[in-house]
Amino acid sequence: MRLAGKSALITGAARGIGKAFAEAYVREGATVAIGDINLEAAEKTASGIGAAAYAVKLDVTEQASIDAAMKTVEAKAGGLDILVNNAALFDAAPIVEITRASYEKLFSVNVAGCLFTLQAAARSMISGGKGGKIINMASQAGRRGEALVAVYCSTKAAVISLTQSAGLDLIKHRINVNAIAPGVVDGEHWDGVDALFARYEGLQPGEKKRQVGAAVPYGRMGTPEDLTGMAVFLASAEADYVVAQTYNVDGGNWMS
Ligand SMILES: NC(=O)c1ccc[n+]([C@@H]2O[C@H](COP(=O)([O-])OP(=O)(O)OC[C@H]3O[C@@H](n4cnc5c(N)ncnc54)[C@H](O)[C@@H]3O)[C@@H](O)[C@H]2O)c1
Repeated sequence: MRLAGKSALITGAARGIGKAFAEAYVREGATVAIGDINLEAAEKTASGIGAAAYAVKLDVTEQASIDAAMKTVEAKAGGLDILVNNAALFDAAPIVEITRASYEKLFSVNVAGCLFTLQAAARSMISGGKGGKIINMASQAGRRGEALVAVYCSTKAAVISLTQSAGLDLIKHRINVNAIAPGVVDGEHWDGVDALFARYEGLQPGEKKRQVGAAVPYGRMGTPEDLTGMAVFLASAEADYVVAQTYNVDGGNWMS
């Protein structure tokens, strides 16, 4: 019970990695707000987890939605101790086919959404006076570019940079900001990624997944549960002296 009595908000937690984090946090004793743009899915996820989880409608691209979600969390759980900035979108295209709409959408969710949700959480944690933990979801895509993935890779590089700046600024309030950089994690998200690569690389559906899984030194794609140990550690008091870092949890894909 390393998170006993803690209040957490996880963005984009209706499915995938965020959902697995919510389950793990509840197992460790936290109360968890499942924040998602898809309220119906968030409600289903929360009720599947049990009484310690509740759904909150949250669109991280809208300041009013972020502020309202923060107020709901403060009212329901008496404050906020842990934020996981997990909501993100993916897209792929060759450089000459990238659209401005795709660029703006990805930066709005993955970067502005991360920054302004982090800002609202930090304000709440500062006024609570007990510090807190903020975990941003980066990616191996933020460590280097990829031919078809310029925009998503740039957003995740920005998340790593924001983690450093926010980590350095907020540690004086005893708010630890760190990030997790997963590699390739199976789930609905990767079904969409696979379909995009099938289109641009002329692959059969499922072939890109097979390729990326086989290329992982560990020998397979990750699962959301492979990441929960790091997510619990970074949210716990064991990480009090860990500041502004991005941890690779990727089966050995990237070393830094
Ligand atoms: N799956 C992977 O291989 C992988 C690899 C590296 C990094 N990541 C990162 O991990 C995180 C979670 O990935 P996942 O695979 O679980 O993704 P996912 O697509 O399965 O889930 C994302 C969730 O975010 C929600 N969402 C989308 N836009 C939103 C918005 N504007 N406001 C609030 N919620 C919104 C969606 O409804 C969905 O529930 C993301 O930040 C992703 O970039 C994933």
